[in-house]
Amino acid sequence: MPKCIIDGREVEFTPGQNLIEVAKSAGIVIPGFCYHPGLSVVAQCRMCAVEIEKMPKLQTACSTAATEGMVVKTRSERVKDAQKSVMEFLLINHPLDCPICDKAGECDLQDRSFDYGSPYQRYAEERRTFEDVDMGPVIKKNMNRCIHCTRCIRFGDEIAGIREMVAIHRGNSTEITTLTGLPLETEYAGNYADICPTGSLTLKDFRFKKRVWFLKKVPTICEGCSRGCSLELHQSDNVIYRCVARENLEVNKYWICDEGRFNFHYVQAPERLTEPAARQGGSLQSAEWSVAVAKAKATIVDKKVTVLVGSDLTQEEALLLKELAPKHFPGAAMFHFGTPGITAGQHDAPADKILKRTSKTSNLHGLEQLGFEGLVTLPRGTEAVVVFRGGRATLPDLGGLATVGVGVFTAAEAEAFQAVLPGLTFTEKSGTIVNFEGREQQLKRVILPLGQAKPLAEILTMWANVGAAAVVARAGAKV
Ligand code: SF4
Ligand code: SF4
Ligand code: FES
Repeated sequence: MPKCIIDGREVEFTPGQNLIEVAKSAGIVIPGFCYHPGLSVVAQCRMCAVEIEKMPKLQTACSTAATEGMVVKTRSERVKDAQKSVMEFLLINHPLDCPICDKAGECDLQDRSFDYGSPYQRYAEERRTFEDVDMGPVIKKNMNRCIHCTRCIRFGDEIAGIREMVAIHRGNSTEITTLTGLPLETEYAGNYADICPTGSLTLKDFRFKKRVWFLKKVPTICEGCSRGCSLELHQSDNVIYRCVARENLEVNKYWICDEGRFNFHYVQAPERLTEPAARQGGSLQSAEWSVAVAKAKATIVDKKVTVLVGSDLTQEEALLLKELAPKHFPGAAMFHFGTPGITAGQHDAPADKILKRTSKTSNLHGLEQLGFEGLVTLPRGTEAVVVFRGGRATLPDLGGLATVGVGVFTAAEAEAFQAVLPGLTFTEKSGTIVNFEGREQQLKRVILPLGQAKPLAEILTMWANVGAAAVVARAGAKV
């Protein structure tokens, strides 16, 4: 491999790599604002200036490819002076918003100012201010904080495939806005907040909810479709506050869609049933676990049963069900379900040109690997159904059959069920899911289970140990 010298260290590089990336591979930080590895290079902010031997002027590291034998200095006095000047320039119009800005604590501008800026400013003129247009439900714009790095414009053009962010006017009056002055249209708008290096574009959903330094960041996988994008979920005190994209060059690069970004809200929505429930006297009521399990067992006893397994369950859960089904549900037929119209992996296709897939559950392909078949219609003569669900699979029409729900349901979904045994969402458990390319990925537990929700293995153990007749008799539950 060719080599160059950065700050006196010999560093190997791949031909074509720019100096920011080459330095990064050696643990040397070259600061920059406009450069983003997933976007085209424009060398606009000038923050990444470095000194290169035999070149009279400073060069921008983001737009300079390393060459064999190149000698680069990233911390010389000339470079430090240039960095100070750029910081002073970028901050002349920047408001003193850090104490009330959602970006504070993870803001490139704040961090670079601290690391490379000067504590003094010579600018005595009035700062410019803007009235902000509404950017729609996802993004809050605060143009006063913008440094014109144009990452957002390039994201729209190059990734979202929609030219909706533009720079209008010139010089001191330059303003970043939507082309039409109308709200953003892309279904990937949350990425604007992820990549904006200042608090100029922030997530409305997260605004003023929590200071970022209180958040515990857990790397996990999206369950929003069969792509399985890499995510980070951020929680504090067992509450999830935010979801951001996590770099995975092979699956989602640096991006996620808004559907996946905001999917976690159902986990802690008040409509979710997190207590066991049994139908008593015509209505579904909270019950003790033993009562709810007994009611569930009594619902299906002596009936022709079909077991439905959501393709939002993990491999471990599905395997457990496969092993225990003959014992717990003898003679029952078993199918997976998840997205209307997608009963097999071969039906799963790209839903757009970016990331989204048509299978709206995460583990369709994993369940197929385990030999589950997709539900087309319930087998003739089915008298009772047991539905296992992770939270996202679309419930099929159960035609008023006696139904037991195990897993994650809302009160409205469980309206006609005989019993609900609450299970875990993708944020409350660890496990394996398989994406559309057959890639096995790991879900990580982000929060502790809410309410009385339990892991599937525990629910199945209770199922094995609770005697339906005895417990129903004890609880006086009418079956
Ligand atoms: S809004 Fe943010 S991403 Fe867009 S140009 Fe301004 S600072 Fe850069
Ligand atoms: S494309 Fe699919 S997996 Fe990726 S973030 Fe969106 S819903 Fe989640
Ligand atoms: S990061 Fe190189 S000029 Fe902006």
